[in-house]
Amino acid sequence: MRQSGIALRAVLDAVQAAVAPGCTTMDLERVAEAKIAETGGKAAFKGYHGYPRVLCTSVNHEVVHGIPSKKTTLKAGDIVSVDCGVILDGYYSDSAITVPVGAVTPEAERLLAVTQSSLASAIAAVQVGAYLGDVGAAVQDVVEAAGFSVVREFVGHGIGTSLHEDPQVPNYGRRGIGIKLREGMVLAIEPMVNAGKAEVRVLEDGWTAVTVDGRLSAHFEHTVAVTADGAQVLTA
Ligand code: MF3
Ligand code: CO
Repeated sequence: MRQSGIALRAVLDAVQAAVAPGCTTMDLERVAEAKIAETGGKAAFKGYHGYPRVLCTSVNHEVVHGIPSKKTTLKAGDIVSVDCGVILDGYYSDSAITVPVGAVTPEAERLLAVTQSSLASAIAAVQVGAYLGDVGAAVQDVVEAAGFSVVREFVGHGIGTSLHEDPQVPNYGRRGIGIKLREGMVLAIEPMVNAGKAEVRVLEDGWTAVTVDGRLSAHFEHTVAVTADGAQVLTA
C-alpha cells in the first residue's frame, strides 16, 4: 500500500502541475492516464460501478465525482478538486487535492486552507486505541469553527485490496464513539467542505454531486495507515 500511495502521489503531482487557465478537465484526465501507466499501476476508479474516467474533477460548486470532459475549461478564479485512485499489485490508494486555478478569491483560499487543515487534524487524531468518532470530530471542529459546513452524504472509508472497505469514516462525529482503531488498519480520510450550507444533490449524469446553494466546495483526501507510532500518511 505504501508503493501504491507513492505512485498515486506522483499522479496527483503531475495533474496539479498541469492545472492552468484554459486547460480542460479532460486534459487533466490525459495527464493522469499517462502517469498511472508510467507507474505500472492501474486506475482504481475507471469502471468502478460504471464510472468512466481515471479521475474525478469537481469544479467550484461541484463537491465530488465530477466527470472529466473536454467541454469543461478551467478559468482563472476557479477551484478544481482532483480525486484519483491507483491499484498497484492489487493494493489500492485513494487521494484528492483541491487546486486553485490562477488567482482565486480570499474566500476560496480560506476554504482550501480550512479543508486541508481539517484533514491534518483528522490525521493527527489517528492512533492505536483512538475511536473513529475522534477522527470525525476532529474534522468537524475545524470546519465549523471556520463557519463552513461538513458534507454528510459522502464519507471516507477503509481501503486495502478494494477501494471501499469497512469502516465508513464520516467527517463528523463525537469523541469516544465508534470502533477503536487498531494497528494495521488503513483509512481513506476525505473531508468534503462547503463554503455555505451542507446540502448536496447529484446531477442527472448520476455522478456529479453539487452544493444545493451553488456555493464553493473543497475536498482533500489521504490514505492513512494506523501504526504503533500513530498515523502514517501513505499518499503524502
Ligand atoms: N475518493 C472517492 C471515493 O472514495 C472517489 C470514488 S470515485 C468512483 O469514493 F468513481 F470510483 F466512484
Ligand atoms: Co475515497
